[in-house]
Parts: sequence; structure tokens; C-alpha cells
Amino acid sequence: MTAIDIGIPGLRHALDAPSVEGRPDTPYLLDKFGRVARDLRVSITEKCSLRCTYCMPEEGLPPIPAEELLTADELVRVVTLAVQQLGVREVRFTGGEPLMRRDLEDIIAGCSKNLPGIPLAMTSNAVGLEHRIAGLVEAGLTRVNISLDSIDRAGFAALTRRDRLPSVMAGIRAARDAGLAPIKINAVLMRPTLAGAVDLLQWCLDERCELRFIEEMPLDADHEWARANMVTAQDLLDVLGARFELTEVGRDDPSAPAEEWLVNGGPARVGIIATVTRSFCSDCDRTRLTADGRIRSCLFSDHEVDLRTPLRRGATDADLAQLWRAAMWNKWAGNGIDAPDFEPPARSMGAIGG
Ligand code: 5AD
Ligand code: SF4
Repeated sequence: MTAIDIGIPGLRHALDAPSVEGRPDTPYLLDKFGRVARDLRVSITEKCSLRCTYCMPEEGLPPIPAEELLTADELVRVVTLAVQQLGVREVRFTGGEPLMRRDLEDIIAGCSKNLPGIPLAMTSNAVGLEHRIAGLVEAGLTRVNISLDSIDRAGFAALTRRDRLPSVMAGIRAARDAGLAPIKINAVLMRPTLAGAVDLLQWCLDERCELRFIEEMPLDADHEWARANMVTAQDLLDVLGARFELTEVGRDDPSAPAEEWLVNGGPARVGIIATVTRSFCSDCDRTRLTADGRIRSCLFSDHEVDLRTPLRRGATDADLAQLWRAAMWNKWAGNGIDAPDFEPPARSMGAIGG
């Protein structure tokens, strides 16, 4: 029997771990380009109640076997060590759709108990949120970003392949009224929904929500993304500018991906996250954990480091923290979308977490 078979974690890491050559001795999630990851995105499921064409295939993503998903207790342990040992300052739960997990409240409550004062956010499509918002806030959820691309019912149904717009709108209002205002709305526009950008912005202004448009990234499960088809920040500015007076205000802080504009003189604002046409990789402060327990240093990099196996073989928090540091030390400089040989990553957005 070898050390791996009997599961001595330290030895197994030595075989698997990415190189940390040249890494200074710091507890933080530093990379070779001097960036420090402070913002943790945790995908907790690949399942979703919608099927947005830019994200999921019609039939949904291949299911992750139950035994490969991190449990609520494992998630709480890993998030806690990320904050306490690695300097993470903000945690966001994503998916798929986080509401697809019945134990979301337990995950949030466990993190909230261990990590007072750390913002615990969620990115959700808001389907069914109105029925769970009270419990989530009670558990310690502090913020929610909601994905909504169209307020036209038929347009929404075509894009998401599900006729759930009324439930989404009810979820947004419930979250706002539960004390999570201001709600941020994320919209990814495609050619067919571009003309609806004006109505979407007006709706968000009326509902006191902060709208941010996100350029479509080559992270769709069907691999149909094409630069020529995507809606760019400039396309959006043209469409919105024809109806609203927009005054550029730039970024709140350099690692905030959204550039902002005042709408009709303010105070309302609209943001654009130009991930593709104005990449901001040099200011990235993200680290990601996939639902099956792998560290992913960048949305676009398929190099992942497995935390689940060592975790289940008895690794200490210090062992796991060191693996995480190594994963981030090897983060790429940029997303590579502009390289002539760019290949989209194997996992789609729904499988990595937004
Ligand atoms: N490009 C940009 N954003 C995407 N999302 C999903 N797929 C893509 C893509 N291909 C976003 C959703 C949501 C978050 C979870 O990820 O709109 O806001
Ligand atoms: Fe689900 Fe969000 Fe992907 Fe749409 S973008 S299919 S809501 S995970």
C-alpha cells in the first residue's frame, strides 16, 4: 500500500500541488503578478431553474454526483479558513442557482456564525426567492445580486427557455423589501434583447435597483459565443444614450469591474462590466471554488486544484490553505480572449460560478 492509498494528505499534496517557487512567505492569496485575491466566489451547485442560452444547454449541465458536491459543513469549513487564514474579505455564493440547494440557509448560517462582519452575498436568478428571502436574511445573507436580462415576458422566456419572469420580479421586490436594498441587477444582453435595454433600465430605476450590464463572455455551455455577435459596451451606450442622458463617472475602486454612468444627471447610476472589450484582469481580486471542491484561479483557466480529496482524507486547515495559496500563485496574467489561439474553457459559467 502506498502513502496515497492510505491517504496521508501531506504526501499526496506534494505529488499534486502546483509549484510555489519564488512565492514570498505571506498568508495571503498572492499571485506572480502582484495581485491579491480577497473576493471569494463559491459555486454550490451546477443546477439551475433557468436555461439562459449564453450559459446552459437546453437539457441543463451534466449533474455532479451527490458525493462529489461539497456538503454544507465542508463549505462552511473551507469558507471559514479562506477568511481566517488567507485574507478573504468577501464571500459570494453562486451556481448554477444557489436556491437550488435546500441547505443554502444552513451554509449561510454556518459561515455567518464563524465570520461575523464578513459580507455574505449571493448571485441568484431570483426564481422562488420571495419564499426564502426571510430565512436567508435571518441566516445572515447580507447582499444579493440578481440576474435579469429582459422585462419583456416573451423575450425573457426565449432567452431563459423558461416563462418565469413574474417569479423573478416578485423575488427582486421581496429582497429589496427584506432590507437588502440596494439590489444590484446583472444583465447579459444578446442581439435579440438589446433593444429592451432601455425598458430594463427604466424598470430598475422605478424599482430602485442598480443595473449593471455584463458583456457576454465565451463561457456558454454550447460554445456558440462569437465576438461578431456579442453586444459590446459601446452598443449598449449607443442604445441607452438615445433615451437617457449618461454622464461617465468611472469606477468606484480599481478592482470593481463595473464602469458607471449617472443617468439623467443622477443620483441613479447604470454600470457596464466590459469583460471582453475592456478586460480588467490586471486588477482582478477573485478566487473561486467550484461546487465539486476545486480552486479555480480564473474563470478562463482550466487549471484547477482539488481541495475536496485532501479535505476528505483528513488534511488540516493549514494544508488546505497552502494548496489554495499555490493555486493562486499560478494564476494567469489575463483571460487570453484576445489571443489568436484562444480556446474557451471546458467548464461553462454555470459550472464554475459567476
Ligand atoms: N457571459 C457573461 N455572464 C454570464 N453569466 C452566465 N453566463 C455568462 C456569460 N457567458 C452570468 C449571469 C449571472 C452570473 C451568474 O453569470 O448572467 O449574472
Ligand atoms: Fe441559470 Fe444564471 Fe446560467 Fe441563467 S445564467 S442558466 S440563471 S446559472
